[in-house]
Amino acid sequence: PKIAVFASGNGSNFQAIADAIQAGKLDAELVLAITDRPAAFVVERARRLGIESFSFVPSQYDSKQLYEEMLKEKLFEHGVEWLVLAGYMRLIGPVLLDAFENRIINIHPSVLPAFPGKDAIGQTLAAGAEKAGVTVHYVDAGMDTGSIIAQQSFPIAGRKREAVEAEIHKIEHELYPATLQRLFKHSFI
Ligand code: GRF
Repeated sequence: PKIAVFASGNGSNFQAIADAIQAGKLDAELVLAITDRPAAFVVERARRLGIESFSFVPSQYDSKQLYEEMLKEKLFEHGVEWLVLAGYMRLIGPVLLDAFENRIINIHPSVLPAFPGKDAIGQTLAAGAEKAGVTVHYVDAGMDTGSIIAQQSFPIAGRKREAVEAEIHKIEHELYPATLQRLFKHSFI
């Protein structure tokens, strides 16, 4: 299917998905990278990969409804079928949820339902949790609340934040493309 990746920052998951497609491990066409932060490194990654990117500034629109209508048009123009969120730091509103019902996926760096929202790794460490991990889930109107598709966790006893972060990213970069592949092959989980 044709997919668009939404990212607000570094875009290492965007990269992992693009790499998996190139390596023949993920049957999808990444037609658009969308960011709400024009200076985000994901834009540069897209440029290097020859993938079209589209940046917008939410504060230049009067409402989420208006910028989502604009995005919807853009996505439809490109024939996008699935939205893949990868470090996109905004809630998806009714316009896109309706237009892409059950076809919006997110990755989150905690074992949901524990530690939704921002800085999930910091929350995990601050809570003294025994395990950290990653969740791939469907997106609904809530913050990291949609049905869970895949999870992977690991023990963190005594490990520093940098080590935990590195392990999380390593897992994400494998788990996200692999889960998308399963999803696109079976279109259910
Ligand atoms: C990832 O940890 C992802 O789980 C979270 O935001 C981070 C994005 O990293 N939602 P990157 O931009 O893909 O490098």
